[in-house]
Amino acid sequence: MLIEVKGLTKRFGDFTAVDSINLSIKEGEVFGLLGPNGAGKTTTLHMLATLLKPTDGIALVNGYDVVKQSDDVRKSIGIVFQEPSSDDLLTGYENLRLHALMYGVPQANLRKKIHEVLELVDLVDRKDDQVKKYSGGMRRRLEIARGLLHHPKILFLDEPTLGLDPQTREHMWKYIEDLVKKKKITIIITTHYMEEADRLCDRIAIIDHGKTVVIDSPEKLKSELGGDIVSMKIRKPNLKAIGKLRYVKKIDRTNGVVLLTVENANKNLPEILKTIGSVESVELHSPTLNDVFLHFTGRQLREEQAEGGFWERATTYKVRR
Ligand SMILES: Nc1ncnc2c1ncn2[C@@H]1O[C@H](COP(=O)(O)OP(=O)(O)O)[C@@H](O)[C@H]1O
Ligand SMILES: [Mg+2]
Repeated sequence: MLIEVKGLTKRFGDFTAVDSINLSIKEGEVFGLLGPNGAGKTTTLHMLATLLKPTDGIALVNGYDVVKQSDDVRKSIGIVFQEPSSDDLLTGYENLRLHALMYGVPQANLRKKIHEVLELVDLVDRKDDQVKKYSGGMRRRLEIARGLLHHPKILFLDEPTLGLDPQTREHMWKYIEDLVKKKKITIIITTHYMEEADRLCDRIAIIDHGKTVVIDSPEKLKSELGGDIVSMKIRKPNLKAIGKLRYVKKIDRTNGVVLLTVENANKNLPEILKTIGSVESVELHSPTLNDVFLHFTGRQLREEQAEGGFWERATTYKVRR
């Protein structure tokens, strides 16, 4: 295992931000920490990157202990912070050069090394522009280039597309996918965007209130729900009758919407509609990570509300057999 974490905990005073997390991350994996704002993702990443000292537990990164061998850990990793951290007044090239000097990247062939990472993030043409003239996406790319400058084995990306518009986000995803193809590198991404985790990550850990709720591949997590999701707007659902249908695996209810997890939903939808009562609207979809969230935490995350950390509470009903 390239990263091995056991019982990792961080307390700020009485508050436990990261609560005894266990993780094993393989070489070459793209691993995601997915959870709402305040879940403890950045705190976890900062402990792995030796920027915060754990209160408890053990973390080995590239075989090195983050507390006892922090220098070796630092040489093994690159990190792109959640907040922009490049110097506005310097050019892209100057930012990279400064970073290389500060982090003791060998001077031999420095120009070539800088050029190589600039090429990787498609910024060669703009390398002599001041960073303040860059778009949000270009800035993020420059910071990824900076994180790669010393050829780390592991790259940490903290919310790589936070605050970017959907089109730029899509571009960033392509860059990250490209990076995975071109470089043999292990990537740990934190995100509160389900779509991002789904698209980029081989495996994800869903984090909530500082704890890992579940760890697996997005595909497996979705398929484990055991059916498709039928969502219906309805005032007076007959849930008792619905609960008796064998192919209905789960019933959730939130804000006048009933969500059913249904085996063979296409085939069984007519009977459901007949049974549940007078439906205003109905929608059927394959499970998303949002549905996985709902399943494991009893809450659901809506992308548009995620920025404000708004998680909607849903009520889950027991299906009686
Ligand atoms: N230095 C700190 N002092 C006190 N509380 C902190 C500190 N850093 C983070 N926290 C708290 O720890 C929790 C987790 O924060 P963070 O790891 O930034 O979450 P995430 O990255 O998942 O949004 C939050 O409730 C946050 O307010
Ligand atoms: Mg964060």
